[in-house]
Amino acid sequence: MIATMQNLFTAILLTSQCLTINSFTILPGKDSSGWGSTSKLMMASTVTTSKSTAIDYDVVKVDLENNRNYPIYIGDSFDDKQAGEMLRKHVKGKDVLLITNDLISPLHLEKYVSILENSNENDVEERKGITVHTLVLPDGEEQKNIEVLQLILNKALEEALDRKCTFIALGGGVIGDMVGFASAIYQRGVNFIQIPTSVMAMVDSSVGGKTGVNHPLGKNMVGAFHQPQCVFIDIHNLSTLPDRELYSGISEIIKYGLIRDGPFFLWQEQNMNKLVQRDSDAFKYAIKRSCENKASVVKDDEKEAGLRATLNLGHTFGHAIENGSGYGTLLHGEAVSIGIAMASTMSLKLNWIDQTLHDRTIKILIDAKLPISLSKDSPMNRELFLKLMSVDKKVSNGKLFLVLLKGDLGGCLITDQFEQQALVETVDQYVAEI
Ligand SMILES: NC(=O)c1ccc[n+]([C@@H]2O[C@H](COP(=O)([O-])OP(=O)(O)OC[C@H]3O[C@@H](n4cnc5c(N)ncnc54)[C@H](O)[C@@H]3O)[C@@H](O)[C@H]2O)c1
Ligand SMILES: [Zn+2]
Repeated sequence: MIATMQNLFTAILLTSQCLTINSFTILPGKDSSGWGSTSKLMMASTVTTSKSTAIDYDVVKVDLENNRNYPIYIGDSFDDKQAGEMLRKHVKGKDVLLITNDLISPLHLEKYVSILENSNENDVEERKGITVHTLVLPDGEEQKNIEVLQLILNKALEEALDRKCTFIALGGGVIGDMVGFASAIYQRGVNFIQIPTSVMAMVDSSVGGKTGVNHPLGKNMVGAFHQPQCVFIDIHNLSTLPDRELYSGISEIIKYGLIRDGPFFLWQEQNMNKLVQRDSDAFKYAIKRSCENKASVVKDDEKEAGLRATLNLGHTFGHAIENGSGYGTLLHGEAVSIGIAMASTMSLKLNWIDQTLHDRTIKILIDAKLPISLSKDSPMNRELFLKLMSVDKKVSNGKLFLVLLKGDLGGCLITDQFEQQALVETVDQYVAEI
């Protein structure tokens, strides 16, 4: 079985030519109003909550076997009534456990409590009278652990929630991953909805059902596959997201272009300035296109037998940097950005890509205001790098598999068949720059 998987890994050479993004369904939104071409997601300390006009939105469908399809709704500034109807459609039972963190709670929690509780004439009987229980967890990647996860289970048991309840994650990837995992294991699995509030969560972590927590010996090492009922993205919620977090999430958007969607990468080259300036039209497009790519990959390889692993471009290097630097020092997307730069450098050393593609990769990371090298105070050295990267090695039967770029833009490969020297030289080059 493992041998078969390894052959598959080694054999997967992907190009944007052979894998198109047409295998998912995009349903058009209701109307075309509500999109000012110059609108921006301004930083604000609070978010306006009441709106009275339904807005246009997109739906990307995640196609899964056994009737587990679910929609990703993407809009800007949903009307409360509209949001309530859309969300309640996916709530099972009368009890919701809405979970967020102490940073997001004062900004967005109240709005979603009232959105969920205030049913209206369009709701069928079973969607009326929902009780929303709330739980506010401490913020931060270092809180993504089994002890904090336990707080979710405690709260659900204290409230005597039975199997017919719905957990809702309101937050970034940390809250999404933890709430998803809690919903996978609470009473052997309950329904769950994602309301992602960071770019990272909107373009990547909320879609595809990977849930879990970190372990002191490795990131995301404890978890489960558990798909949500729906993903509800209101890009207006990004208005309170700090710039650094916004840029961090863009690293995953760049990833999709590099590994499978060359035309999207070209669009990013032309529009990165708009993304970093929070242009809402540009964000709406980038989030939709990223979700389409993620949905397509998840549809073809839900449990990561091969293809889905290509989404880890830059992540084996990045996880080592995150872990070695101490969780919370670098943001996930920042570590991934350095990791993508390292994967590209290694691909160049192997002569698998040309200098031009490498230069374009580095330039787009810089344009996205992301780091491409380790900071001066980084504790990383060759030994630490290789040791931490070997956590991934252990889970692949003793072999280190890396996602590397190969061929034209949009082409990548996941393989253990590379010259070790290229890996060591790449690590040495980045460590020497410290
Ligand atoms: N499950 C997956 O498939 C998958 C994929 C990619 C990443 N991840 C995980 O996602 C995590 C990273 O996600 P992240 O970057 O969203 O981190 P995060 O959840 O820590 O959010 C980043 C910061 O932004 C804050 N924040 C989020 N939304 C906000 C908003 N609207 N306004 C103000 N502040 C806001 C958070 O409180 C936090 O301080 C990592 O743990 C990573 O492993 C999982
Ligand atoms: Zn990631």
